[in-house]
Amino acid sequence: MFEVPHLGDALPLVPSDPRWIEVALTDLDAVHADHLHCERKAAQSALSLIRSYPERADLVEAMARLAHDETRHVVQVARLLVRRGQPASYDLGDDYAAQLRTLIRGREPERLLDRLLVFAVIEGRSAERLALLAGALEDEKARELYASLAEAEVRHRDSFLALARDAAPATWQARAAELAAAEAELLAHRMILARIH
Ligand SMILES: [Fe+2]
Ligand SMILES: [Fe+2]
Repeated sequence: MFEVPHLGDALPLVPSDPRWIEVALTDLDAVHADHLHCERKAAQSALSLIRSYPERADLVEAMARLAHDETRHVVQVARLLVRRGQPASYDLGDDYAAQLRTLIRGREPERLLDRLLVFAVIEGRSAERLALLAGALEDEKARELYASLAEAEVRHRDSFLALARDAAPATWQARAAELAAAEAELLAHRMILARIH
């Protein structure tokens, strides 16, 4: 069985409240419909970094590849919705990501570091929750899909962490720890919803 990935040492995210998976399993239609938009927004976020930092060749290549992965994930989740015979829904908005984005400092070079690390946090949290779903879903094909998606999001987390390390070798680890702590605080005050975040 696929194990919940160990979240990177540089980004010590707290485990999700155990009630999250219980709530998620009560309304899988909502979780899957939300998940489609998570994958779509991950692709858009990766492309937005290329718009902001076209002169950084490593970042451009990593983000183009990542956006490619995420659009493939959109296809996979869209097919899952069809297979389940469940409706898709419009994006309900994502105040988890919006709250994390408020932690991004306005000035360069801190802004780049923070954007990379906030995306690393979102990928890390997504990986953990997709792995929890992989361990809990009844449908065999859906379990396999979620296990493969969780592995991909771990790779994405690490690719953001590597870019953060290269962008700010002296400060990235301390800032990663700060943002991980801020995310734990944010989660502690959030309602648990049948959504990915
Ligand atoms: Fe993804
Ligand atoms: Fe991802």
